[in-house]
Amino acid sequence: MNKHLPNRARITGTGSCLPERIVTNLDLEKTLDTSDQWIRERTGIIERRIAEKGESSSTLGAEAARRALTAAGEKPEDIDMIIVCTSTPDVIYPSTACFVQREIGASKAVAYDISAVCSGFVFGLSIAEQYLKSGRYETILVIGAEVNSRLMDWTDRSTCILFGDGAGAVVLKREESEEPVGLLSSHIYSDGNRAEMLIVPGGIGRETISRQAVEDNLYTLKMEGQATFKVAVKKMTEVSLEALEHNNLTKENLNVVVPHQANRRIISAVAEKLKMDSSKVIVNLDKLGNTGGASIPIALDQAVKSNRIKRDDLVLLTVLGAGLTWGAALIRW
Ligand code: COA
Repeated sequence: MNKHLPNRARITGTGSCLPERIVTNLDLEKTLDTSDQWIRERTGIIERRIAEKGESSSTLGAEAARRALTAAGEKPEDIDMIIVCTSTPDVIYPSTACFVQREIGASKAVAYDISAVCSGFVFGLSIAEQYLKSGRYETILVIGAEVNSRLMDWTDRSTCILFGDGAGAVVLKREESEEPVGLLSSHIYSDGNRAEMLIVPGGIGRETISRQAVEDNLYTLKMEGQATFKVAVKKMTEVSLEALEHNNLTKENLNVVVPHQANRRIISAVAEKLKMDSSKVIVNLDKLGNTGGASIPIALDQAVKSNRIKRDDLVLLTVLGAGLTWGAALIRW
């Protein structure tokens, strides 16, 4: 008689999609009181991708999804669920995920968005993990997609230099295995007491959208940069160690870290605390800036495609974002 093996959640394909348009620090120097040198030294960013008219979280997300499906050898009609992690949805409603579903022809999938800003992708993975490990679903698409450029105050040098646009996607499959493979565990947290630390204050629920609110610049990102920096280093380290401990693993077992790409100095500080050699840490913010919820899946896809993540590697994802929200996931690739 066949023994019933535990359900695992395995990433079987990754994909990403970036806007063509590149905006360099030198471009920003022309309109902003900043310098390429300051941005490089304080953030590590050299250039970022910015969406053109017609590009949006759903168009970038759908293309990233198609690429992930191709890599996984999966057909759109076999997807059970689409989770789009975005804080820059195409419209207020319906969800961006429904546009993606239509675009890729995932006819049987249930599709919805989640809002956890930069932490969105790790939160999304955590949801997919539960559905796959419980045996409820077979195939789930998790997409991180953002057009942060639409929420920037292009006169605020302390924020607009940091962000960029793009999308990344993964296909997760239920797999029965004795061995602990795939997504080993995910650990996610929120602290609404610090909601104002990173916020786009303009909304739709507290007050009707008004010309005045737009003129008062409420529909752009406001950030307490230094406070966010400090809490990011602390929480990303803490939650990473928690994920390792939960799986009876140690820092020494890690092969690759894919951190959220907010600031090179945050990544270096976290890597130092985890005693990770920089060769094991994936960094692409020099080319992309902070792409919010898309940052980890894009970095993951690039790392897979460039062979920096290989079968059986122990991979750590770690992030902090607005909310505040933070989380980590451990994957046996
Ligand atoms: N160009 C030139 N000077 C700039 C600048 C820019 N783009 N942005 C800020 N400055 C100036 C400030 O005005 C300040 O000048 P002052 O000393 O005359 O007042 C000086 O640089 C230092 O500012 P400060 O905010 O202390 O810089 P910092 O080293 O903390 O770097 C951030 C600012 C935003 C890059 C950094 O705090 C950061 O990355 N924070 C975390 C961001 C983050 O993770 N966000 C997203 C999480 S998802």
